Amino acid sequence: MESSGTGQGYGETARTPHKGRARDTLSLLSAEFDGTHDVWRSAMGTVCVADPESARAVLGNRDAVVAEASDFYKTRHGDFGPRAAQIRIGRAARALIRRHLDARRAELPGLVSELLAPSAVWPDAGNLLVLRHLRDVLLHRDAPPQLHATVGQIVRRAVLAGARHRHSPPSRLLFRRRALNFLHTEIRDRQRQLAPTRDPRDLLDVVVDESEPGADPKDLAEVYLSFLFATVGSVGFALGWSVHLLGTHPDCQAAEPSWTVREALRLWPVAWLFARTPSHVQTLGGEEVTPRDLLAVCTYLVHRHPKYWERPDDFVPERWAGTVPDAAYLPFGYGPHTCAGATVTMRLLEDLVELITRDWRLSVTHDGAGPQVGPALAPPRFTAVLSARPDRPGRR
Ligand code: HEM
Repeated sequence: MESSGTGQGYGETARTPHKGRARDTLSLLSAEFDGTHDVWRSAMGTVCVADPESARAVLGNRDAVVAEASDFYKTRHGDFGPRAAQIRIGRAARALIRRHLDARRAELPGLVSELLAPSAVWPDAGNLLVLRHLRDVLLHRDAPPQLHATVGQIVRRAVLAGARHRHSPPSRLLFRRRALNFLHTEIRDRQRQLAPTRDPRDLLDVVVDESEPGADPKDLAEVYLSFLFATVGSVGFALGWSVHLLGTHPDCQAAEPSWTVREALRLWPVAWLFARTPSHVQTLGGEEVTPRDLLAVCTYLVHRHPKYWERPDDFVPERWAGTVPDAAYLPFGYGPHTCAGATVTMRLLEDLVELITRDWRLSVTHDGAGPQVGPALAPPRFTAVLSARPDRPGRR
């Protein structure tokens, strides 16, 4: 039950340029990037891509520049497909989440008050808040209690930052087998009861209903896990970055929430590194690459490229009030495989940041540690204290 080796943490099989040393990878690539040569052969042996145009060419893959499509639908058995099913699943998932956010928006202030105040330890607090808010989307209420428990355990053992290091490899393997067994059984049951006329009750229904008849339950389970990592993991981490940056830059707490969220995703793109293989010999950003190379598209560096961004390493939410270099901003990927959940993600993040800054005074204590770098870029552990604003009665 481990997240993938590339940016988002989707799937479980993708490759990290330096497996198990993601933190070193971030430091090393950052140290190597001189701000001018933005496609280069790294000491790690990969070809690193920080040039926005080359990054878009690779991620968008319009001219079949690379062999892979995207990470989200990658399974142990290759790419889950066909593409038409991927598209149906992405759209249905977005629609389901959007309906849920519409219907349950009023719950958010209570959840913030209950789970984040008076103080909480992050980034787990963000992940657990998203889990609570999207619980029914992940698994409908009448799903077997054992499966509910399993999803909660997957979050605690595999989604939270650093969680998997807290368990030994044998214990992880055992848990993985047990959890996948529960998921496979439920998926087979739902495939037998398939009723395509009803609305999906949860993301597992989305995956079962919109896949091709006879799809392998094992692949469907992996796609479902991609959704779990994307929702509870990525959205929770992105919220954590916004809260961390606001807490460490109190002067910015009055900024427009959408600017804060965009700027947090610029400085700390949760999906920060994408591994791809060139499909043929070609020149990319002036560098000749071949199918024997491994490309590492680093959106973290694209987002801090000094040729495109002023004060690239500073937290400046106000920059989003003006014109920004959109071409150098890829937090949700690029091209046909751009994140299907980008709009619902932004909406939830903006709502939460607005609530936190409008109703509460936020302060953060931390030990100055850097990000927790893995397949996804998670904030360091920190404590955030929320104290009620006197002009906002009714809050604790
Ligand atoms: C902060 C939160 C999120 C971030 C940073 C993020 C980022 C990304 C990125 C970078 C990709 C492209 C992957 C690649 O090209 O290899 C992607 C794809 C995808 N994401 Fe997200 N994502 C987030 C949340 C979500 C959510 C909440 C959903 C739920 C609907 C979702 C559903 C998808 C799907 C279905 C794809 C595959 C699109 C396709 O190939 O057609 N994501 N995401």
